[in-house]
Amino acid sequence: MKKITTMTLLMVSFFAMAQQETIDQKVNSLLKRMTIEEKIGQLNQYTGDNSATGPININPNKQAEIKAGLIGSMLNIIGTKYTRQYQELAMQSRLKIPLLFGQDVIHGYKTTFPIPLAEAASWDLEAIELSARVAAIEASASGIHWTFAPMVDIGRDPRWGRVMEGAGEDTYLGTKIAHARVKGFQGNKLGDLNSVMACVKHFAAYGAAIGGRDYNSVDMSERMLWETYLPPFKAALDAGAATFMNSFNDVNGIPATGNKHLQRDILKGKWNFQGFVVSDWGSIGEMVAHGYSKDLKSAAFSAITAGSDMDMESNAYRYNLAELVKEGKIAIDLIDDAVKRILRKKFELGLFDDPYRYSDTKREEKELNNPENRKTALEVAKKSIVLLKNENETLPLSKNLKTIAFIGPMVKEYKANMGFWAVDLPEVNYDKWIVSQWDGLQNKVGKNTKLLYAKGCEVDGDNKDGFAEALTTAKQADVVILSIGERHDMSGEAKSRSDIHLPGVQEDLVKAIMATGKPVVVLINSGRPLVFNWTADNAPAILYTWWLGTEAGNAIADVLFGDYNPSGKLPMTFPREVGQIPIYYNHFSTGRPPADENAKGYVSSYIDLKNSPKFPFGYGLSYTKFDYSGLKLSSTKIKSNENIKVSFQLSNIGKVTGEEVVQLYLQDKFGSVVRPVLELKDFQKVKLDAGESKTIAFTIDKEKLSFYNNKLEWIAEPGDFELMIGASSADIKLKADFELVD
Ligand code: NOJ
Repeated sequence: MKKITTMTLLMVSFFAMAQQETIDQKVNSLLKRMTIEEKIGQLNQYTGDNSATGPININPNKQAEIKAGLIGSMLNIIGTKYTRQYQELAMQSRLKIPLLFGQDVIHGYKTTFPIPLAEAASWDLEAIELSARVAAIEASASGIHWTFAPMVDIGRDPRWGRVMEGAGEDTYLGTKIAHARVKGFQGNKLGDLNSVMACVKHFAAYGAAIGGRDYNSVDMSERMLWETYLPPFKAALDAGAATFMNSFNDVNGIPATGNKHLQRDILKGKWNFQGFVVSDWGSIGEMVAHGYSKDLKSAAFSAITAGSDMDMESNAYRYNLAELVKEGKIAIDLIDDAVKRILRKKFELGLFDDPYRYSDTKREEKELNNPENRKTALEVAKKSIVLLKNENETLPLSKNLKTIAFIGPMVKEYKANMGFWAVDLPEVNYDKWIVSQWDGLQNKVGKNTKLLYAKGCEVDGDNKDGFAEALTTAKQADVVILSIGERHDMSGEAKSRSDIHLPGVQEDLVKAIMATGKPVVVLINSGRPLVFNWTADNAPAILYTWWLGTEAGNAIADVLFGDYNPSGKLPMTFPREVGQIPIYYNHFSTGRPPADENAKGYVSSYIDLKNSPKFPFGYGLSYTKFDYSGLKLSSTKIKSNENIKVSFQLSNIGKVTGEEVVQLYLQDKFGSVVRPVLELKDFQKVKLDAGESKTIAFTIDKEKLSFYNNKLEWIAEPGDFELMIGASSADIKLKADFELVD
């Protein structure tokens, strides 16, 4: 049996190699037939005319340029009808090289899934992979070959609007999610009709923009880059990611797009990445505004030299590369290498065999927004909700309530549930595509429960005219549910905010409703951690519902009435005030740590605020309670080639089935460089029935103890470690010390 398996494996890899050779041979022979203009054309990507995801350049010649073989890829052309039309133009070109269609399929396609930050709150890697899988199935059925996702930028600053698009602040969780998303998008292999190429972005360190202001500079040590920001990219690469996107920001003074160190030395050098790198929208041209390149030509030179293969919307390559070659400033080999990387992917996708293979209208009709996909979206949405507070068991609500008042600017919203980076839906009949929170609640309650509605106020602005109606409505109800937060366009690209308090007069609305004395449940819809201290301190029950997508209304209703027991945990720290930002749980130990929360004077603290966050990383409640006990370590002294088996008992001591995300943190107590106060190194999401107990096991190995020293070596240093098992980064239930002896 073993022999056959080995034999089979050998044969499979032989055929895979043979096939790869064939693709390489095909690429080489095609390359030989290409003029320099056609080669450069492959490196050129334009947006379609109907929608723009960046500052648009009007170019009336696009269609003629496609026919002339001067464009290799388009973005923002979706649907089999349009992708077919454009592909037909490419088929009129001399060499008939098919176009690649790229799109920001960030959280679902026509079936919208929760925003990535919300999905990260599920800590459920299978669910996250499945969400990407469904997105790929729908997008590929709609003519798309390539998604500009996952975004794997670590986000430690909630002012930065793009935290909504990533997996939060933690590197370990980020690597796991990056891997899951790439697997989901790419499926079994590229070339399967239901797979799309992933594009890991933004390489690199975009999330560390100074002040949380989008597109701003990044200044960071090489050690921080390697330890905190690069691992999710590496994990995505290891999962087989076909492409990378570079980023708008400069890193230590060199724009990422023209950054040779990042793209050539690390990505294509040390990591041996064989796919291609696309620039971000206009980022080659933006090197002129950065003051790094004196004109578009020198920007083209820097980008291609640094390893940027495809130019998205800058027109820098199209008009300058040929001249640069002619002048002997760049070798044709550099262009050939970029072209080969792109052509290889087109062959792998099977586009040379059939350029229309992703343009099947029947498949498109069958796949988009179908009941099966919506069912998955509902499951993922439920798992993404985080229960922040639940005093006096306000939740779950009884199904026998006579009157519920559903109040707030989000209640009857459709689009707000989709969030930023959702693929456009036809503006008419949104209700076909999205379950509003109002509809979700109506689907849930029986005939004996009366639902009342008042808007109360807008999301922003200072108008309180609607308060009176909201109060009258609240007074008639047994329970008030208040749905507030950010509109879909308040977090996302170019949506940095200096003030992340609940916008407008919404918190005043909470205060007014609370004054009625009615039990109040607050739903906070948002693309980022917000500050809402009064609500957090006074409302008895709070669910953080992010932007949950197509099935938002049903998912929220399931959680409100206990048909699903919330299991989400925060993937980002929630600050008390903007002044604490950047705030993240795995900060370094300082020389003057405050002895406690209130310690002041010559310690590392604020004189006007605690250091601790409002809600910590990893935090989230359940309708049941979990008990942690009986921590055992197989050894408390190990050599670096040995492991420690860690185990403990997790018990559901409440009354209902629930899921707990158990988190394993480590602290390296002394290091040759200062170490974080604690770091997530493993986790499991465990489902237990009421009264059930389970032994949970983890393994600690050298990898978990390692870090980058100041020579950038990945090493585990002998010494003392603390192991912590917690329900969040601030709720450590079990602890033990151990030692690494060599
Ligand atoms: C700019 C964004 O930064 C990037 O993430 C996106 O993929 C492109 N625009 C294309 O829309």
